[in-house]
Amino acid sequence: MNRSVPRVRLPVRRKAHRVRKGTFLSLLTGPEAVAGLVERVTAAGDEAVESWPGRPSVVLFDEASRVLTRGVCQRAGVPLDDAGSIARDLVAMVDGFATPGPRHWRARRARARCEAWLGRLVEDVREGTVTAPAGSVLDVVVRHRDADGGSLDPHTAAVELLNVIRPTVAVCWFVAYAGHALRASPDVRERLREDDAAYAVAFAHELRRFYPFAPFLGGRAVTDLEWRGEPIPSGTLILLDLYGQNHDPDLRDEPYAFHPDRFLDRPPHRDELVPQGGGDRTAGHRCPGEDITIALLAALWPRLARLEYDVPEQDLRIPLNRMPSRVRSGFVIESVRVPAAVQGAARAAG
Ligand code: HEM
Repeated sequence: MNRSVPRVRLPVRRKAHRVRKGTFLSLLTGPEAVAGLVERVTAAGDEAVESWPGRPSVVLFDEASRVLTRGVCQRAGVPLDDAGSIARDLVAMVDGFATPGPRHWRARRARARCEAWLGRLVEDVREGTVTAPAGSVLDVVVRHRDADGGSLDPHTAAVELLNVIRPTVAVCWFVAYAGHALRASPDVRERLREDDAAYAVAFAHELRRFYPFAPFLGGRAVTDLEWRGEPIPSGTLILLDLYGQNHDPDLRDEPYAFHPDRFLDRPPHRDELVPQGGGDRTAGHRCPGEDITIALLAALWPRLARLEYDVPEQDLRIPLNRMPSRVRSGFVIESVRVPAAVQGAARAAG
């Protein structure tokens, strides 16, 4: 592709939004911030797991969405009264991102509820009835001044907060996929139990490669381009085939087999693995939360792999005509047993 793409001039409001998004997101995406988020999420996960042995069944997708919601909100300094309903709204927003019809309307209603909740929170912090932890995302958003010196109105502040909180919850899709993967590959589950950080990261890469979230991304050429000699006029709709690239047999052996080892000694090249968009993360269509996603999956699944549980009959299909796709049942587990060694480790960590 012609790399000397001219910069597009953005309207002032969109430009201010981009600057703010970069500022607020950097509070979650630096290495220390990622470690802090992982700590909160794993602590929320350990707490949740304590109740599982007493329950008839656990739906991993739903449980992970609540754990991720608690972890990210704690990390962002956002107090939660009812993690369950907020998690449901955050999932609804991710679930409706590329779909017309009922899922889209549900997403819009969920967005309106979350924006109202966070807008009220911003007002409460400004009135002094709620305290935002110093340096937290909430604190920074509430005190933010745009280039013109103005503070954010409550609705805009709520939108910015939501942009930081919402995407983390999408990781619950991959938590459920991981349950699906380990059911089919007990050897991988054994390896994950060995507490090998490099293997856990390779597992996270393979999970994102193997399972579909967004099968493709669409965008319009903002100027006349050329791709390998092929002229692409400005305005052309371009689709990036994420699923195809992740399963391309020219890039890897046995693309339809689940083998974390393929990433063990060789981290994936930027353009080889594109489950969360492609190109450069600062200028291309690539998710800025990849490191967070990998770190969360690499921290959560070795813990879950150490649990003993049964997998009952359920609908484990993953429809490829749904976007984002998901394990239909959410991946249900039953009769969860927490081995004594895991209980001891969680207590020591806590
Ligand atoms: C299941 C895990 C995730 C998947 C599959 C995913 C996927 C994606 C995709 C496909 C895009 C669109 C890229 C584009 O077209 O430009 C995107 C954008 C984005 N993602 Fe993620 N993401 C995930 C997790 C996260 C996490 C954990 C964060 C952390 C905060 C995050 C933050 C964002 C943001 C802020 C954008 C918008 C970027 C922009 O507008 O410039 N994502 N993600």
